[in-house]
Amino acid sequence: MAATIRVNGDRFVEMISERRIRAKVRALARQINTDYRNAVPVFIGILNGSFIFFADLIREISVDCEIDFLKLSSYGDAKISSGDVRLLKDLNCQVEGRDIIIVEDIVDTGLSVEYIRHLIEPQNPRSLKVVTLLYKKDAVKPGTHVDYIGFSIPSDFVIGYGLDYAQRERNLKAVYRLKAKPVRATARP
Ligand code: IMP
Repeated sequence: MAATIRVNGDRFVEMISERRIRAKVRALARQINTDYRNAVPVFIGILNGSFIFFADLIREISVDCEIDFLKLSSYGDAKISSGDVRLLKDLNCQVEGRDIIIVEDIVDTGLSVEYIRHLIEPQNPRSLKVVTLLYKKDAVKPGTHVDYIGFSIPSDFVIGYGLDYAQRERNLKAVYRLKAKPVRATARP
């Protein structure tokens, strides 16, 4: 049976094991290594959530590369996106003429990815691609483009492997989903 943990009074159940994540990170890196064999891409990690995925992915990358980070505001302490994306830390690298790969932990509505595109495209990169470990297929706004997807998942709230709940639980090795509270049977009139 899948492991269950309790956080802030909510129950979470293991959704993607450490082993499956490791295999997927390797597979994504293999694809990127092939696609960028003649380039020196710049990997841009989106803080805070992507820091573990970023660190694991980059160590599987065998082509010459550079790294940088952007920090965006996220959910705050809530479980639902505020829909308000703000830039908390800008890039330090030169984007013009470079092959840019955005590294996201999760694409939910896709607002963050679109925000990043609008930030980076005017700086004239040679190419701009997005890799995400998790992709909430039913929540993503139409027109959001993601190039490399680890796992397509339902719209559950998830934590672990960099993803937080009120800033905690990022250090979990697996990804856990919020377990829906059982609906209590109501007495018939
Ligand atoms: P989007 O802009 O709606 O696509 O959301 C992107 C950001 O929201 C991610 O980079 C995460 O920081 C955060 N986020 C989205 N879904 C979850 C979740 O299920 N758990 C924790 N954080 C999430």
